[in-house]
Amino acid sequence: MCVINSPAIEAHGLVKYFGDMRALGGIDLIVPAGMIYGVLGANGAGKTTLLRTLLGIIDPDEGSRRVLGEARPLDAAARIGYLPEERGLYPAMTPREAIAFMGALRGLPLKVGRKRADALLAAHDLAQAANRPIRTLSKGQAQTVQLLGTIVHEPRLIVLDEPFSGLDAINQERLETMIRSQAAGGATIVFSTHVIAHAERLCERIAIIAKGVVRFEGTVEDARARMKPKVHLTTRRQDGDWRDAMPRDASVEDRTWHFDLPEGGIEPLLAALIAGDAGIDSLSIERPGLHDAFIAIAGEPAAAEATI
Ligand SMILES: Nc1ncnc2c1ncn2[C@@H]1O[C@H](COP(=O)(O)OP(=O)(O)OP(=O)(O)O)[C@@H](O)[C@H]1O
Ligand SMILES: [Mg+2]
Repeated sequence: MCVINSPAIEAHGLVKYFGDMRALGGIDLIVPAGMIYGVLGANGAGKTTLLRTLLGIIDPDEGSRRVLGEARPLDAAARIGYLPEERGLYPAMTPREAIAFMGALRGLPLKVGRKRADALLAAHDLAQAANRPIRTLSKGQAQTVQLLGTIVHEPRLIVLDEPFSGLDAINQERLETMIRSQAAGGATIVFSTHVIAHAERLCERIAIIAKGVVRFEGTVEDARARMKPKVHLTTRRQDGDWRDAMPRDASVEDRTWHFDLPEGGIEPLLAALIAGDAGIDSLSIERPGLHDAFIAIAGEPAAAEATI
């Protein structure tokens, strides 16, 4: 098998203004081929603008991008599947026709599209709805149909803007499975989300963006490692000299103390508590998840803002 190791997406210095509003402030991004990649950011961070710019739906004011080896992303359109943020299918069409039609827009013969649509709909419990007008489907069902239309032409790059929103727990899990199986088949998947749990479970790498700037890029583990572990410690006694040994940032409710793991580790503190006869009822050290790291990274002031 011939494996080409060039990245699926390479972007350098992407800047985009809407009037005076700088939506992208110089974004560099590399998405390796075959990866599940998450773009995380709060509302208005610039996720949709970034995805649209990467796909060539909008052109940047500055910077360049290369998508599946093409300097003009639209030249790669037949190899890309895109689920836009704004959902929409023709309500009078049937799911079978809609999926085949979406494939045809990306160069897939209609006949092949219909056949694949039948298989995809059956695999997603939608066989019964295959030939009903889309207007009779629930919102989540229609969204699933749109997702199937996004992958029907077997794209090498799948870009999904907030794909989980609007889906119930079962369909969210199905979508996670679909994303994993597309990646296992060699596709690259880029999706945006502000539901961090999906990214934590799925993504090999993530970019956290805020105000149009990449605040963090790396693995989920790298992001979590930026956060200090949290200690929760319950003592049997409430008072004693041992209290002086507690870290200054500790907060206490009843007899339970909460604080960041000290630089020197927990052992010196435990030694002081034992020596002071504080009595240790319980101790837990918890590594913060991606959710906490996201809040901290997306919420921290940018370097330029911090110097003001
Ligand atoms: N067509 C447009 N015209 C003017 N401003 C725009 C346009 N599109 C986006 N913006 C602005 O650019 C910024 C980034 O918007 P964008 O839609 O990319 O954010 P987002 O991260 O996708 O947010 P959300 O999570 O709410 O979808 C916002 O301040 C938004 O108001
Ligand atoms: Mg958006």
